[in-house]
Amino acid sequence: TWTTAAFVEEAIREIRARVGEKRVLLALSGGVDSSTLAFLLYKAIGEQLTCVFIDQGFMRKYEPERLVKLFQEQFHIPVEYVNARDRFLTAISGVTDPEEKRRRIGHEFIRVFEETSKRLGHFDYLAQGTLYPDVIESADTNVDPQTGERVAVKIKSHHNVGGLPKDLRFKLVEPLRKLFKDEVRKVGRSIGLPEEIVQRQPFPGPGLAIRILGEVTAERLNILRDADLIVRQEINQRGLYHSFWQAFAVLLPIRSVGVMGDQRTYAYPIVLRIVTSEDGMTADWARVPYDVLEVISTRIVNEVKGVNRVVYDITSKPPGTIEWE
Ligand code: XMP
Repeated sequence: TWTTAAFVEEAIREIRARVGEKRVLLALSGGVDSSTLAFLLYKAIGEQLTCVFIDQGFMRKYEPERLVKLFQEQFHIPVEYVNARDRFLTAISGVTDPEEKRRRIGHEFIRVFEETSKRLGHFDYLAQGTLYPDVIESADTNVDPQTGERVAVKIKSHHNVGGLPKDLRFKLVEPLRKLFKDEVRKVGRSIGLPEEIVQRQPFPGPGLAIRILGEVTAERLNILRDADLIVRQEINQRGLYHSFWQAFAVLLPIRSVGVMGDQRTYAYPIVLRIVTSEDGMTADWARVPYDVLEVISTRIVNEVKGVNRVVYDITSKPPGTIEWE
């Protein structure tokens, strides 16, 4: 029978056999796959592993700091933190089209990743958190026709946004390739990953950049980050985190009139998007208790400057998508 302990032991043996004395590069994203991967690799090859975390500036409030701290202080795994916030914001400055945003973020990610890997020396291997369903999905596209070996052509956490340049083709280390998601979670839990990572709701690679409709600015990012934090706090406090597939805030680039005290306000609305789903392909808007919605709405309008209205999205998928872009 399959046990996490046996899996971890076997994975470590395999990694050592494959990599030998060579160096391995790993891009951390904050999700359960790349986190579990980092832990296994570090256990297997220690300092031969370099973990890079590229901060695009589109993560949720406190997430980048927490991730780096968790790895360095709890797991004692060094992380190369790359602050690329300004670059990414510049890359999508003035862009309003959702797919163009994704494309630019994807390209910028590849550029920063390439620069970082060159700066840190030569790497023969790239560790990827490929899971069993990904292996099936990319059966032929990732195989080098000359050697028959699986090679990296894309970076998984951003698979929807462009490939690696030809001269940056690494050999792959994919110790999770035989696992399904629920097995990765079990392994992650068994090695001590906190529940906030193990059970994390899906979070898109382009992050908050696609939850601000239209142009993304530093001001809008700050507003959305604060509103999103309130949504998560209120949901978590009530033990509701696991009741939903995703629960998040979206910022609309329009303004509406409101009143606060004796002042007229003219500010952004926040949309609450909270859905239940089995796999993300279809989804239903969640029947969140009114008192929860009330507290979230009141807190956002009172605490987040620049927002004067909160609306709840009652559209299922289809015809709506989960994200707004
Ligand atoms: P939609 O909006 O298509 O989302 O109903 C379905 C699921 O996919 C996630 N999603 C993304 N994930 N990059 C990602 O890594 C993206 O560009 C992206 N767009 C949507 C979404 O959060 C939901 O779980």
